[in-house]
Amino acid sequence: MKRILVTGGTGYIGSHTIIELYKNGYEIDVIDNLFNSKITVLDKIEEISGKRPSFYEIDLLDYEKMDKLFSDNHYDLVMHFAGLKAVGESVEKPLKYYENNVGGTVNLLKCMKDHDVHKIIFSSSATVYGEQEKAKLDESMITGIGITNPYGETKHVIEEILKDVSESDKEFEAVILRYFNPVGNHPSGLMGEDPNGIPNNLMPIIMKVARGEIKELSVFGDDYNTPDGTCLRDYIHVVDLAKGHVAAINKMKPGVLIYNLGTGKGVSVLEMIKAFEEASGKKLPYKIAERRAGDLPEMYADPTKAERELGWKTELTVEDAMRDTICYLNNL
Ligand code: WQD
Repeated sequence: MKRILVTGGTGYIGSHTIIELYKNGYEIDVIDNLFNSKITVLDKIEEISGKRPSFYEIDLLDYEKMDKLFSDNHYDLVMHFAGLKAVGESVEKPLKYYENNVGGTVNLLKCMKDHDVHKIIFSSSATVYGEQEKAKLDESMITGIGITNPYGETKHVIEEILKDVSESDKEFEAVILRYFNPVGNHPSGLMGEDPNGIPNNLMPIIMKVARGEIKELSVFGDDYNTPDGTCLRDYIHVVDLAKGHVAAINKMKPGVLIYNLGTGKGVSVLEMIKAFEEASGKKLPYKIAERRAGDLPEMYADPTKAERELGWKTELTVEDAMRDTICYLNNL
């Protein structure tokens, strides 16, 4: 196993995973349509790791170009990060999300099948758990019920597609990694989450408030049944998340393996604000606003299956993530 195709490799999670893949001796090709990322990330990857992936500006919906790529290169494994991920935008533009995320993945899987590539690691999301009785989520739970947005639905549909492909092709090997809330940046401060446009997620918004691009953070509700009234989430450092992908490679086998990648702990919005203020030494302007539709009071991973079967668990903390975020902001 040497050569890996990383789709969405100039994105936040993909780029951080490439750093860890290089540390483990893999050769990397990247495809990305650069819709929500910048090609300059390749320079940062090279500066950090001393290696530069071959890059192809290809949209997964362009079957011809994808087919040629697989004809010209043999890949042992595909790591599939490419996808639109703005929850709010997915509600406004569902067809764009289904076409891009699901349609793009179908094209990718067809190319893999046509060119005898049998292994895929898929970037999924805890959103596939939808509404659950418990806040601590484990892989045995039923998914796909009560998902509140098309983004989460696309992740769920893709998981089902992978299971169906596995039923039809006994050589097919898939690992589904369900991310909780990725935060932080590479400790060098050279790479980080830098989405184009208005972000949805808490950390990129905190970063924009800290940079003065947004006046203040709106805390979406402080009247939940939680210790400080704000929602709890499982914030996982992106470097730990990246290492989870490397750990999954060596455990692949025919069939579909599913793992939560999270810390196993819930942290509140106010605790995140406090952690950022302690790391930055500055107050972060915020106000309490109305609840956001679709938000659950608390959700966090039961990460024991990944620890047991992959020998992986998180090592970094929210404080590490805030420190690395400040370092990244200072480099911008
Ligand atoms: C976190 C908490 C908000 C913004 C999303 C998506 C998906 C998944 C994880 C990968 C919530 C609060 C946020 C703000 C706030 N990742 N918040 N003010 O909703 O848990 O899940 O990210 O698939 O992208 O499902 O993450 O960062 O949007 O919100 O108070 O301006 O921060 O209410 O409690 P979420 P989030």
